[in-house]
Amino acid sequence: MKIKGIEELRFGVEDIEQARQFLSDFGLAPGISDVQDAVLFHTQNQSRLYLYDKHDSRLPPAFEDGSTLRTLVWAVEQASDLDALAERLADVPGFARDADSVSCLDPNGMCLRFQLSTQVAVELIVPGINQHGDIRRVDAPSPVYDRARPIGIGHVVFFVEDLDGVEAFYREKLGFQVSDRYIGKGVFMRASVEGHHHDLFLLRVPNKPAGLNHVAFTVRDIHEVIGGGMAMNRKQWSTFIGPGRHPISSAYFWYVNSPLGGAFEYYTNDDYLTAAWQPRTLEHSLELFTEWAVEGGLDGNTRRQVVTGG
Ligand SMILES: [Fe+2]
Repeated sequence: MKIKGIEELRFGVEDIEQARQFLSDFGLAPGISDVQDAVLFHTQNQSRLYLYDKHDSRLPPAFEDGSTLRTLVWAVEQASDLDALAERLADVPGFARDADSVSCLDPNGMCLRFQLSTQVAVELIVPGINQHGDIRRVDAPSPVYDRARPIGIGHVVFFVEDLDGVEAFYREKLGFQVSDRYIGKGVFMRASVEGHHHDLFLLRVPNKPAGLNHVAFTVRDIHEVIGGGMAMNRKQWSTFIGPGRHPISSAYFWYVNSPLGGAFEYYTNDDYLTAAWQPRTLEHSLELFTEWAVEGGLDGNTRRQVVTGG
């Protein structure tokens, strides 16, 4: 059984038009929705994001108030993977099986669905970085992007109360691997033995109930992280934090506050792990979360840090 990564996100939102504008500005491509009254966007690799009205009866119950993620769809490669999942998940609350999918609730209250992947390979020109002893770009300038075009849905981060219980579910029922952990505070997990640093991060914050922290989208390089974040600033969307870099996964990031709930993240250059990786158990610290970061973002016009508070 192999879970490939995130295939689709279904959000229930309070204001579909505002959410539609946000996704368009974020760089997702509008699609022709096959679901009545639901709005469809997709990434370059054809992963999907659906917007529903938050009261739409076709959505499962929400795990928090307001606009938020209602269903997280994971991709599998073959029909036999669905059979294997159906066997493993048969005793899990919310379990259902149909011809095309398996679904259940995770212990945090999120509806999970498993489907065959329809993602496509994306080939892009990604100019290299020139570093000492490793010249990858010759007779060519380094790019500047005026906006981002996310390639795929990279990871999801949930607030959880029962960190151990939720982690155990993903490990034991779904075969997720622990990449790194913050003692008592969070666990980074990847769906496959070999893959990017995390597809899922479970975060425990005192007195914070279950909910969505952020969803993250991959872009080709750090320049597209910067171009995307500044484009969102020019469109008047607010930055939560970014740009910056996480030592814990090595990724460059930029988080934008989202009207869909939580934040949306552009990121790139995260670690790629195999069976040889030894998970680290670490005390959470500011230095691990951020090597450096800009609070409030960069202004898309002045190209300087956003000045707040007059
Ligand atoms: Fe993230």
